[in-house]
Amino acid sequence: MVTQSWSARFERMSESATAAVFRRVAELRAQGVDLVSLSVGEPDFDPPPHVSAAAKAAIDAGASRYTEVAGLRALREAICEDSLCRRGVEHSPDQVLVSAGAKHSLFNLAQVLYDHGDEVVVPVPAWVTYAEQAKLCGARPVLVPCAREDGYLVRPESLQAALSARTRAVVLCTPSNPTGAAYDAEQLRALAAVLEDSQAYVIVDEIYATLTYDGFEQRSLLSLAPALRERLIVVDGVSKRFAMTGYRVGWMLAPREVARACEAIQSQATTSIAAVSQHAAIAALTGPQEPVGAMGEIFRTRRDRLLAGLGGVPGLSVSRPQGAFYLFADVGAAIERAAAVGVRDDVGLATWLLEQARVALVPGTAFGAPGHLRFSYAASEQELDRAVERLGEALARF
Ligand SMILES: Cc1ncc(COP(=O)(O)O)c(C=O)c1O
Repeated sequence: MVTQSWSARFERMSESATAAVFRRVAELRAQGVDLVSLSVGEPDFDPPPHVSAAAKAAIDAGASRYTEVAGLRALREAICEDSLCRRGVEHSPDQVLVSAGAKHSLFNLAQVLYDHGDEVVVPVPAWVTYAEQAKLCGARPVLVPCAREDGYLVRPESLQAALSARTRAVVLCTPSNPTGAAYDAEQLRALAAVLEDSQAYVIVDEIYATLTYDGFEQRSLLSLAPALRERLIVVDGVSKRFAMTGYRVGWMLAPREVARACEAIQSQATTSIAAVSQHAAIAALTGPQEPVGAMGEIFRTRRDRLLAGLGGVPGLSVSRPQGAFYLFADVGAAIERAAAVGVRDDVGLATWLLEQARVALVPGTAFGAPGHLRFSYAASEQELDRAVERLGEALARF
């Protein structure tokens, strides 16, 4: 019998908490349980038809070979053009690396930038991957709590206090998973003023940048903070914007040396990403953008519906987010109410709601923010209504 042991690197990190929820949801569904899942982080739409058509055409045209590791030049040019239109900042194709999703872009960055003894500053609540990837590389995540009263956004003075001589990178996400909160131009400038005094790389995850509501003006540090340009990396992709999660296309816009170092790492891991996916991404970026606006409008309607519904559920306090497709609820009061059935924290509450109300949600602990639950409204209005009804019934029992 072989004794199982894994690398110290592996032992340092944890599996994605959302992946654990997905697994439990799949298990229950396989048992025939009628579940409402508001736990997923992917649009429930099909990609725009011209994207699927481009993928099929690419297969027929023989897109069956490796491409350049960094991605097809035509795709990198389309990415530069798209970014110029949206952010008003020029990049050249050699400042772009296309990877198997934004998560893979972040993984490459972690491999290239982080080392033992480094600190990676992450304002929380935040997508769990940033901290886990840092740990995998031996770096220490420095989580900076952001208060509900501040809209779950980091205050410049808190960011300042978290920086040290060891800070290798600061990771920001706007709009945010899990809160949907987004930094406006003034807030970004205030953060930039703090970051300009440090030597740290600044990684901004803008994967949800095209999904904002109520006229919120989404801006990028790329255009607002030229002084950071030599150490600023923006991560983006087609997953959320074009409902193309399964195509696995993401990228970084980075200083040339960073992009090329990440390309070298990628050359030893995956080589290029799938050629067909790259052709689909070119079609998405260069084709009509109306489907993006239409999806955004549907998400906004759902956000308002879910906000209104959850407003009537006892024990939840939900903030109104500017973007993405998540609501983040402070569930401190619900946890207190459910103490009678042994619930002690958000993880316990999520488990109890899954088992008793048959509603799947992700606990805030998974995002460094205990006492909260994340609701994804990448689900139909009917599903949202069913979730609200079930949660209302379950929490009214106390
Ligand atoms: C904040 C954030 N960044 C990146 C990603 C990953 O996107 P991709 O599908 O491009 O890897 C996600 C997916 O959930 C996310 O929520």
